[in-house]
Amino acid sequence: MKRLVYAALVCASLSLAGGARAQTPPPARSAELYEQLGQKEGIRHFTHRFLSIVLADERIKGKFEDANIDRLEGLLAEQFCDLSGGPCQYSGRDMGTAHRGKDINTAQFNALAEDLQIAMEEAGIRTAASNQLIAKLAPMYHQVVTK
Ligand code: HEM
Repeated sequence: MKRLVYAALVCASLSLAGGARAQTPPPARSAELYEQLGQKEGIRHFTHRFLSIVLADERIKGKFEDANIDRLEGLLAEQFCDLSGGPCQYSGRDMGTAHRGKDINTAQFNALAEDLQIAMEEAGIRTAASNQLIAKLAPMYHQVVTK
């Protein structure tokens, strides 16, 4: 599964960076992505499920011991809405500041991305759309991973 998520990350990034090939449909515009994620209600739903998967995930749950989960859930939903072109403006800290000193490594970053993909899959979001959201998070790697 980890490999699948990684492959999805790479493919999504490549398709964004390299542009669409002749037989590949062009990536949806940002506002379309927001629609495909189910707008605010759909995003709120899979973000809630995402956090429950994260908090049960032995690989990373320890990182969230002192976290304010309600606040985090609200900020994540807002961030996903914003990134997907929805009518929201992310109001939390920048990713570097939010994750400073948390000693997050690559395996933990991939675990979190995998949990998000599972939550979206469970919510019935199309793989193309979930890959697009994951691809928007991929560039945050360097601000989040410090170990
Ligand atoms: C692209 C990947 C990630 C995104 C988009 C993301 C997003 C966020 C956001 C929006 C916040 C809240 C910012 C704020 O407090 O103002 C946050 C905080 C946090 N994140 Fe991440 N995160 C990512 C990766 C990770 C990973 C891999 C871990 C650990 C395995 C992690 C652990 C935390 C913790 C512990 C907090 C602080 C929560 C609190 O203090 O209440 N994050 N993250």
